[in-house]
Amino acid sequence: MEKLENVTYLNHPLIQHKISILRSKDTGTNEFRQLVAEIAMLEGFEALNDLPLENVEVETPIEKCLTPMISGRKLAIVPILRAGLGMVEGILSLVPSAKIGHIGLYRDEVTFEPQEYYCKLPKPIEERTIVVCDPMLATGGSAVDAITMIKKHGGKNIKFMCIIAAPEGVNRLHEAHPDVQIYIGHLDRCLNEHAYICPGLGDAGDRIFGTK
Ligand code: PRP
Ligand code: URA
Repeated sequence: MEKLENVTYLNHPLIQHKISILRSKDTGTNEFRQLVAEIAMLEGFEALNDLPLENVEVETPIEKCLTPMISGRKLAIVPILRAGLGMVEGILSLVPSAKIGHIGLYRDEVTFEPQEYYCKLPKPIEERTIVVCDPMLATGGSAVDAITMIKKHGGKNIKFMCIIAAPEGVNRLHEAHPDVQIYIGHLDRCLNEHAYICPGLGDAGDRIFGTK
């Protein structure tokens, strides 16, 4: 696949190793959930490496000093329901003060197009760095719609984080929202006739919540 601006593949060996365990059909719900959270934390570590810093005064036991702390715009984490919920805990472990929004979308089983059922975002959304998360970027329809909704509410500085992506989804998301920074754990081969990612990991929502 051609290299696209604003698209980052997170090739860290720990991320790759954990994704391989996620893929296995023998990985149960408990371990699956834990791995999704760990991968989200490792991805978040990379995706947030441009958070702005400012020097603040701190008094150590020795003396006063100016020392860098995260400044300015605060973070909002926005999971796409349901599966995105599994990534929240991992990102929150890095930035515990982040606010959390929710966007509810499900894919129509016939058209594969996303259907919206919920949207609640922290205010003022326009002043926050927004991390949209969903483990799977398949056709890209859900991510494109979620980000369109966030922009309609005023969101500007948006990052999208997923664990596994299909080339179709990456291209569609990048085309619709070229300003959004996209972070991907692993780029898979293609989509099948049911718009599932191959080899993928199956239905992420069902595997996180044990609904199948
Ligand atoms: C899955 C997944 C994404 C979407 C990706 O959700 O979590 O949101 O599919 O597919 P797309 O890129 O083709 O839009 P699903 O619709 O199965 O809902 P769920 O999380 O509630 O199970
Ligand atoms: N949603 C999933 O959960 N898995 C896929 O492979 C595609 C969409």
